[in-house]
Amino acid sequence: METTFGDLTFLFIVFLLSATLLLLISRKKTRTSRRPPGPPGWPVFGNMFDLGSMSHQTLHSLRTKYGPVIWLRLGSMNTLVVQSAMAAAELFKYHDLDFPDRKVPDALTAWNYHEGGLSLNSYSPYWRMLRRLYSAEFLSAKRINDTAAMRRKCVDNLVKWIEAENGGEVDIGHLLFVASFNLVGNLVLSRDVLSSESEEGFEFFDAMNNVMELGGKANLADYFPFLRRLDPAGMKREMVREMGRARRIVEKFVKDRIEEKKSGREINDEHDLLDVLLNQKGDAKDPPVPESKAINAVLEMFFAGSETTSSSTEWAMAELLQNPSSMRKVKAELDRVIGRSSSSSKVEEGQLEELQYLQAVVKETLRLHPAVPLLLPRNAVKDTDFMGYFIPKDTQVLVNVWGIGRDGDSWDEPSAFRPERFIGSSVEYKGQNFELLPFGAGRRICVGYSLAHRTILLVLATLLHLFDWEAAGGAESVDMRERMGITLRKLVPLKVVPRRRAELLTEDEAKI
Ligand code: HEM
Repeated sequence: METTFGDLTFLFIVFLLSATLLLLISRKKTRTSRRPPGPPGWPVFGNMFDLGSMSHQTLHSLRTKYGPVIWLRLGSMNTLVVQSAMAAAELFKYHDLDFPDRKVPDALTAWNYHEGGLSLNSYSPYWRMLRRLYSAEFLSAKRINDTAAMRRKCVDNLVKWIEAENGGEVDIGHLLFVASFNLVGNLVLSRDVLSSESEEGFEFFDAMNNVMELGGKANLADYFPFLRRLDPAGMKREMVREMGRARRIVEKFVKDRIEEKKSGREINDEHDLLDVLLNQKGDAKDPPVPESKAINAVLEMFFAGSETTSSSTEWAMAELLQNPSSMRKVKAELDRVIGRSSSSSKVEEGQLEELQYLQAVVKETLRLHPAVPLLLPRNAVKDTDFMGYFIPKDTQVLVNVWGIGRDGDSWDEPSAFRPERFIGSSVEYKGQNFELLPFGAGRRICVGYSLAHRTILLVLATLLHLFDWEAAGGAESVDMRERMGITLRKLVPLKVVPRRRAELLTEDEAKI
């Protein structure tokens, strides 16, 4: 049979098409095979059921088998998990701008919550404007110094509540949470949100508690975004209701403040976050903050700033109660720096930097019990090459700082509570030392870490200096198991019995 020119052209085209197809298939294969290692998943559901409620612990246990960079499929959500200091350094130093957005849980899109504040916003001009505003006007070193009196008031109240128990058993985690909640209320709205005079304060507290509880729950709609409209677990509906209750109260505060401003109230050094938000004049580049976003930004501070601070303080107390030699060292340092006479028994913020051992206790606590163990999930904005792996756009990125804090490659005796490891060491938690990242790192590092550092130290120093503490049921009864909510909390709340230290009582107090 004769081969014509037309046949040859046809064969050439078929060859070309097949070659292109093969190339595409092989490229796709090499691309997918360049994914990080990870446990095999179920069809459709992937690894959704493998992680359990303590996903940070499960992921940490997978490190030995799969290494420090793991690939998971959670329903239809691709997920990259980073769990060593070296991989975290790679991520934050070289890929911060490849993963600058957040993966937003569906329930937290209720009332467009995710668009008002910093934590869930995309890396947008609005986020940059807000972050600048917070760093300059609300959480700057000067502003934190200026608000020392608010912290003093909240800590004094905490001491009064403890004393009101008359040496009985105290649920210290609960009291710490209420104190932190009121501290945020003072910084943000200039009011004790929870005071006996305010009924709406209790309504707000209750609604925010429910919002936080819901915010920490897993939701099917996050793993299969096509289910979002159906909201099969009803989480968004519940969130709309609870956040709606909290919003109605904050909306009233905001409207009152707008009226006050109209009637000539001047903003001065005493300004709170609401003033900062409403006073953002705005220009073509950075428009003013609309009222609905300001409400969400206010709510965010209660979300981000209260339980994180209080549960970290509760973990520190629990660790100290289990480690009497560390407790003795803290107390000896407090006696030396603060003094033992009743007239000088109050801890001043200016003294906190001298408390080197207490600072080491806080670092050691946050190494073992970071309040946000997987950080807030980031999201890939484009296809990226990460440590030789192909990471497609829209991949969720988790950084297991809980696992990194317990990684034998970075720490000697990683599970032992040994604050001494930080004495004379330059390791800090400001996002530069990748083995210790309780506040995250990079552009999205916690905006409140200086405030949190100051508050935790002040509260611990005050409580440990004024009282001797015993665990109700003895030191061996302290249960260190974890529970995951919006933060990593103690499963069993810490119950303690305080005794006011006699040598620090004034003569009048001692007579009572
Ligand atoms: C012990 C206390 C705290 C801990 C452990 C903590 C931890 C964190 C972590 C891990 C992140 C995510 C960082 C990342 O993804 O790289 C974060 C973000 C954030 N934190 Fe904190 N935090 C604490 C206290 C506070 C306080 C007191 C405030 C404010 C009053 C605050 C406000 C925020 C905000 C607004 C963000 C979002 C930042 C952004 O995405 O740009 N936090 N925090």
